[in-house]
Amino acid sequence: MKANRIHNFNPGPAALPLSALEEIQENFLNFSGSGMSIIEISHRSKQFDDVINDAVARTKRLLQLDDSYQVLFLQGGASMQFAMIPLNFLSPGSSADYVDTGTWSSKAIQEAQIQGKSIKVVASSADKNYAYIPRNITFNKDAVFVHITSNNTIKGTQWAKFPDTKGVPIICDMSSDIMSRPVDVHKFGLIYAGAQKNVGPAGVCLAIIRKDLLDWIPDTVPTMLKYSTFAAKNSLHNTPPCFAVYTVDLVLKWLEETIGGLDKMAALNRQKADLLYDFIDAGGFYRATAEPDSRSLMNVTFRLPNEDLEKQFVGQALENGLAGLKGHRSVGGCRASLYNAVSLDAVESLVDFMKTFEKAHG
Ligand SMILES: Cc1ncc(COP(=O)(O)O)c(C=O)c1O
Repeated sequence: MKANRIHNFNPGPAALPLSALEEIQENFLNFSGSGMSIIEISHRSKQFDDVINDAVARTKRLLQLDDSYQVLFLQGGASMQFAMIPLNFLSPGSSADYVDTGTWSSKAIQEAQIQGKSIKVVASSADKNYAYIPRNITFNKDAVFVHITSNNTIKGTQWAKFPDTKGVPIICDMSSDIMSRPVDVHKFGLIYAGAQKNVGPAGVCLAIIRKDLLDWIPDTVPTMLKYSTFAAKNSLHNTPPCFAVYTVDLVLKWLEETIGGLDKMAALNRQKADLLYDFIDAGGFYRATAEPDSRSLMNVTFRLPNEDLEKQFVGQALENGLAGLKGHRSVGGCRASLYNAVSLDAVESLVDFMKTFEKAHG
C-alpha cells in the first residue's frame, strides 16, 4: 500500500524520490541478503563497501569527473566546510576572494575571519538585500581560491553562469543545487554540498575535490578536519554516516536510471521553475523577490500583498496537501523549493492552489 504522501516544498531536509524511499523500506530489515539492516552492518563490510563505491562511481558519472577529482563523504554539514576551507587552504601569506550573496556566503566569510585568515570580499549583493547575483567581478590575481555559493537557498538567487576567475580555482557551496544541472567541473577546486536538499538526507556532506589541493594542506590541521584524511581512506577514516551515504546512493541511482542524467534533470527543473515564475509574473497578487536574471530554479521566493495573507496562504496550502511553503524565518514571505525530487505535477498543483487563493483574496 502506498503511504499517504503530500507535495513537499520544504527547503531542506526536503523531498526525496519515492523510488529511493521505497527501496529503503523494502530492504530495511535485510540488506543485501545479510540478514541485518543497513544501519546494523559494519562500515568495513563488503556490503557497505559496495554502497560507498557505487555512490562515488555514480557521482563521477553524473558530473563527468575525471581522475583529477576525488569524491568524499564528510560529516558536520556544509557549515563544517565553512571552517575547513580556510583551515586547509589558506596558509600565512596567502589570500582568497569571497563573493557575498547572502546568509550562507556570509557565514563562510565569517568562519575565515574568525581564524584570522586573509580574505577579500570582492563583491556583495547586500545593498539590495541579496536579491541579485553580482556581475563583472574583478578577482584578485593572487587569490588562491574564489569562494561562491551557487544557489542561495534563503534569498532565492542562483548563479546562472559561473564567473570567469581566470584560472583561479572556485570553491563552491552547492548545497542547494548540486546535481540539479550539469556543471563544468574543471573550474572548481572544491565543490561541497550538505546532502539534505537535492541528494539525500541530513547527516552527510558530499565533497568533490581536485586532488592537487590535497597537497596544500598544512600538517598542523587536526586529523578530523583535514580533507586529506578522508581522501586517503575513501571517506572511511572513521565511521561514516552509513545510512545517509546509502540513501545518497539510491537518489543518484534514480537520477541516472529513472531521470536519465543531469541534462534531463536540468530541463525538468527549468520547466518546473518557469511554470511557477511565469504564473507569478503574469499577475500582480504574488511578487517574486529575486531579480529576474538572478532567480533560483531551486528556491522560488515570493511575497503576497501582506504578512497576514502570507500566513493564511501557508496554512491553507498545507490543508490542501502542499507542505513547506513558509519563507525562511530571517526574511519572511513564502518560498517553494523545487528540488530534483519535486515533480512537475506538484508544481502544477501549487499553481492551481495559488490561482484559487488569489481568487478568494485578490
Ligand atoms: C547554501 C547552503 N549552504 C549551507 C547550508 C548549511 O548546511 P548544513 O545545515 O548542512 O550545515 C545550507 C542550509 O540550508 C544552505 O542552504
